[in-house]
Amino acid sequence: MIGEIWVYLIENDRMAKVAVRLSRAYHGKGYGTEALSAITAFCFEHTELQKLWTDVDVRNEGSVRILEKCGYRREGLIRQGKMVNTWCDYYLYGIISSDYQSYIN
Ligand SMILES: CC(C)(COP(=O)(O)OP(=O)(O)OC[C@H]1O[C@@H](n2cnc3c(N)ncnc32)[C@H](O)[C@@H]1OP(=O)(O)O)[C@@H](O)C(=O)NCCC(=O)NCCS
Repeated sequence: MIGEIWVYLIENDRMAKVAVRLSRAYHGKGYGTEALSAITAFCFEHTELQKLWTDVDVRNEGSVRILEKCGYRREGLIRQGKMVNTWCDYYLYGIISSDYQSYIN
């Protein structure tokens, strides 16, 4: 399996969280960008979702890069917060449907 991408924590069909995770052997080949770009387009073009968001460890430069390449914007920094089972500094990233429209045009 190359990896997985989720759209979850869907709230009122309007806002959802995204996450992508690839097997180590497939890092750095463009799959993360391709998957995030495709799921973002699907959500805004084929569902009622108006906002997608995620959290990302500040040290995870690859994730930050793919989020920004796909039009997500940094919305905040959480200091020593809980991410899954770890405590770390993490960014919040988000994209709203008007960002997506600007991004594709
Ligand atoms: C984060 C992840 C999804 C990225 O997927 P990927 O397929 O490796 O990413 P891509 O190849 O599409 O693009 C990676 C980009 O980040 C850059 N990058 C990767 N590691 C980097 C680093 N340490 N520092 C700076 N840039 C980095 C690459 O140069 C590339 O940018 P470019 O296209 O401008 O050259 C993947 O590495 C992964 O699954 N990591 C483990 C799980 C994880 O951290 N998930 C995210 C949190 S939910």
